[in-house]
Amino acid sequence: MTIINPNYIYINGKFKENLSVAFDKEIKAIDTIENLQKKYPQATIEEIKENSVLYPGFINTHVHLEFSANKTTLQYGSFMPWLDSVIKNREELVGECSNDLMMQECQNMMKSGITTFGAISSFGLELEVCTQTPQKVIFFNEIIGSNPATADMLYNDFLERLDESKKYSDQGVTPAVAIHSPYSVHPIVLKRTVNVAKTENLPLTAHFLESQAEREWLEENSGEFLPFFQKFFNSSKSVTKIDEFLKSFDEIPTHFAHVVQANEEELKYLAQKGHSIAHCPRSNRLLGCGRLPIETLIELKIPFTIATDGLSSNNSLNILDELRAGVMLHHLGSLEELASLFIGSITSVPADIFSLNSGKIEVGRDSDFALVTLPAKPSSLESIALQTILHTKEVTNVWISGKKEI
Ligand code: BEZ
Ligand code: FE2
Repeated sequence: MTIINPNYIYINGKFKENLSVAFDKEIKAIDTIENLQKKYPQATIEEIKENSVLYPGFINTHVHLEFSANKTTLQYGSFMPWLDSVIKNREELVGECSNDLMMQECQNMMKSGITTFGAISSFGLELEVCTQTPQKVIFFNEIIGSNPATADMLYNDFLERLDESKKYSDQGVTPAVAIHSPYSVHPIVLKRTVNVAKTENLPLTAHFLESQAEREWLEENSGEFLPFFQKFFNSSKSVTKIDEFLKSFDEIPTHFAHVVQANEEELKYLAQKGHSIAHCPRSNRLLGCGRLPIETLIELKIPFTIATDGLSSNNSLNILDELRAGVMLHHLGSLEELASLFIGSITSVPADIFSLNSGKIEVGRDSDFALVTLPAKPSSLESIALQTILHTKEVTNVWISGKKEI
């Protein structure tokens, strides 16, 4: 048993003082240090610095490890030139992406306090790394393919990858399903894939309405996607419409990535069907996709997470870098309240979305923690979330299921 006695603990969305946590693999008790020492006299007391804040381990729900080799190769500023550059450089980038490189990026995530991440996997190349990294992984096997001629082959490949990922639940890997996007998955395959997630009760995610070009293609069969589909797929018509795509998920709450270009009616529909959103502020900015109106999400009570996306559309997988970018991007409303919401968006919110036994400091939860040391005493309890986001590049310690990893 270990007892940790930080200055502040993030419990139920608030920062509490004069409390300590006793834990082994799971959280056993939360009480004053005196009461915990009486209850567990043999426990080891963790040494910590002044101005420390104990958080549940952070959760990054959307990352593409397979693109970790990109630094300066891909074209930023606008979605279609970026997608063209991905297609042009995909083989080389994926070829350069070694297990060592991906493991290094898992470590970088951990240094920012991430104890669980959602890996969006195109090829299954990061599975071995995900079984070896100390972090817990929701392994989203992704289906892609709008062309009916290759749909069966790609679907079978998806099923094989999904089966492979099911072998490692004892190594912290949860098998899951990803739909690439409305424009890139044929509706018949979409139906079959969603059905797999539904019948097997697997977590489900999909990129959705990321760019203006995607919206124009799905609505009008025009815009920048038209020459792209003519060139690569000899096609001039989108395989689906926005409402048809959305309806496919009516019976299974889905974690939609980006959703920047959704209108209010579509957002209301997401709220009504119990869906959630992964918001990637830096990726949206770098690909010229616009600003997700999170004030509307908040109003409609749509649960959202903040996530990094992959290094194909970001300059780091550090979740605190992402929160800082989010704080600067979203200029409406109270700054301290926004910062608090953001901390929730990488802890309790993703835990609720994916029914994880982490993400909250609560008796019976997994002992996944990120300990942050602030540079000086915060002026109020209400300012701690914002000060953490502003001042923390790397966390001080990380525990995963009670094991100290940093
Ligand atoms: C497709 O397979 O249809 C596809 C793949 C990538 C981008 C767009 C479409
Ligand atoms: Fe993504």
